[in-house]
Amino acid sequence: MPAIPIIEKTLTELGDSTPEKVVARFAEVRERFDRQAREQSSGNDAEQWRVFVLGWTGRKSGVLTAVSENWLKNAPSDLRRVVGQEFQKLKAHVEATLEAKRKEIEAAAEQSAAAHDQIDLSLPGVERAIGTRHLIWQTYQELERIFLSIGFRVVEGPEIETPYYNFEALNIPEHHPARDNMDTFYIEGSKSGHLLRTHTSPMQIRTMEKEKPPVRIIVPGKVYRRDNPDATHGYMFHQIEGLAVDSDITFCEFKGTVEYFVREFLGPKAKTRLRPSYFPFTEPSAEVDASCHVCGGSGCRVCKMSGWIELFGAGMVNPAVYGFVNYDAEKLSGFAFGMGVDRLAMMKYGIGELPVLTQNDVRFLRQFP
Ligand code: PHE
Repeated sequence: MPAIPIIEKTLTELGDSTPEKVVARFAEVRERFDRQAREQSSGNDAEQWRVFVLGWTGRKSGVLTAVSENWLKNAPSDLRRVVGQEFQKLKAHVEATLEAKRKEIEAAAEQSAAAHDQIDLSLPGVERAIGTRHLIWQTYQELERIFLSIGFRVVEGPEIETPYYNFEALNIPEHHPARDNMDTFYIEGSKSGHLLRTHTSPMQIRTMEKEKPPVRIIVPGKVYRRDNPDATHGYMFHQIEGLAVDSDITFCEFKGTVEYFVREFLGPKAKTRLRPSYFPFTEPSAEVDASCHVCGGSGCRVCKMSGWIELFGAGMVNPAVYGFVNYDAEKLSGFAFGMGVDRLAMMKYGIGELPVLTQNDVRFLRQFP
């Protein structure tokens, strides 16, 4: 309730002994009410309005009740009539003003809510750019599609490896150049010589250790090498490994699988060529070439006039590897391959340099929606 000391006293205590003084006293109260009413607006919160209304009309502690109790009931008989009239006028004024004010506030609130809700259908919407799969990812999906269709399964492995899985068990002995510090990132402070895998081949070993033959897997993943960055080299690139081991896999199955892959990936006209190569974990080893997809084999700038493009390394699993995973080299045979996914994508889509694949320039990325 608004603290108004005068209404706590009787009119006699206030010294209001004539009708004029009574009228002036009521005017004082009314003025106070009008001032407070003017402060009420739609901008105020609901609680403020409630306190104001209760303060004036509340049955127990409202001003009107106090005036009725202290002034009207205790009025001397000669002033009772004028006090009664003034009280009724004050009461009517307060109630009418409150009602009018309430309507005003409600209307204003409604109006601002309506303005707030108004939707301009002609405004352009907020466009959310939807990303696309990165070219490397798209290439992975294409490679997986091809190998899944002939019975391979996808497995993944750790990027931080031990020398055993990255080298030893793959028949890469201590002195092999691939173990040179120049090529491999070693993890500082690792007592067991942990390193960033230089190829996805360690997953050949991890898979054969865990699973009985037959095994047919592909392994997509990132690999790391200490190359000096240039147009075709970075510190990281993407590979996809393949391994098939069973009791009846010959070089024919190897060649047939490779040729199927090349035709699926580059088109039905693509021819395949195997060139002798060397990897410690395959024997014999081969580089797989495909007829140039640009000139079809007649020779052009892309294939450096040779008609052939080098695709990836592969070969028959070296029996020495089976010794590391407790596979019976007498009864089992298989083939493996390791493809550079970035290389394959660059070749297939005619991309001249590797860095654009990781620079996230949307002008490049948008070309491969
Ligand atoms: N791991 C080899 C590399 O990264 C590729 C490869 C894999 C070759 C499997 C033969 C068999 O160069």
